[in-house]
This record gives sequence, C-alpha cells and structure tokens, in this order.
Amino acid sequence: MNAIALCGFMGCGKTTVALALEKNYKLKHIDTDKYIEEKENMLISQMFENFGENYFRDKEHDAICTLSKEKGFVLSLGGGAVTFERNVKALKENGYKIVFINTDLAIIKKRLENDSSRPLLKSNDIDTLYNSRLPIYESASDIIITCSDEDADTVAQMIVNKIKKA
Ligand code: S3P
Repeated sequence: MNAIALCGFMGCGKTTVALALEKNYKLKHIDTDKYIEEKENMLISQMFENFGENYFRDKEHDAICTLSKEKGFVLSLGGGAVTFERNVKALKENGYKIVFINTDLAIIKKRLENDSSRPLLKSNDIDTLYNSRLPIYESASDIIITCSDEDADTVAQMIVNKIKKA
C-alpha cells in the first residue's frame, strides 16, 4: 500500500481522493501536475499556451520517472498521463499499482462545467476525448474503482479495500 498511482479522466476525483488517502491512511500524497507547476514555476495552462502540449508531456514524463523511483507515495496523475505508454512502463517498473477512478461521465461533465483551467477542454470535445481514453485507462490500470458521486473518503476506502484483497 505504499506505491499507488491514481489515473482517470479530468474531474474524476484523483486529487481529492489522494488527499483522503493521505488524511485517512497516513500515506504521502504528491500531485504530479502540482509538482510540475512548482518545478517549472508556471501553471500548466501557461505551459500549453507558451510551449505547447509536447513540452508539458515531457515534463510530465520526467516527473513520473523521478517520483516513481521513490516508493511510499500516492501519486495523483494528470488525466493524460497513462495515455502515454512510457509513463505506464515507468510506474509499473517501479512497482506502482495503477488505480483507475472510473467516475460516471455525467458527474465528470457536471464538475467540469465551469472549468477554465484545463487547456484540453478548450480544444477537444469532451465525449470524444473521454471515449478515446476509456479503454486506455482500463488496460493501463491494475485496479478499477467504479464510482458516481461518492465522497472522497468513501472512494479512498474502496481503494484500500480492493488493494488489500488483490
Ligand atoms: C490533462 C489533465 C490535467 C493536466 C493537463 C492535461 C489531460 O490534469 O495534466 O491539463 O490530458 O487530461 P487533471 O486530470 O488533474 O485535470
């Protein structure tokens, strides 16, 4: 239970669930997007705007390689991270269990309704992006947690129970 990476679509709850895992189970949480923003001293939206998506993806890969070499973290990943095989490979090689938080799309849409911080939502149709990613999340993950609008503490508990059983 000391090397868990949470993946899933934007708005599925990765960060809030990771914070609940930290609070309730004393696990150390790092949000990879936040880590990258602090390291680069720039918001992700600015990175996309100033240097393009590929620049961000390289920073994301570097962050995942660095952080996954250290065990003992709950990593909340950005929504696109596991759509790149190199990131899945790095996580698995370093013994991380990948947990897909499979939140109902209607709930995700509601949560993202007024969001202006995510660059990919400006340039993509959410249904198309979601449908293209769903099978990738499913095949990249070791554990799938299906949820609708449960609170973060409940989802954290679902994850712990499933990991203990696995
Ligand atoms: C992205 C999701 C974002 C962030 C970046 C790209 C994606 O993270 O990494 O904007 O490709 O889905 P969240 O899933 O935390 O919103």
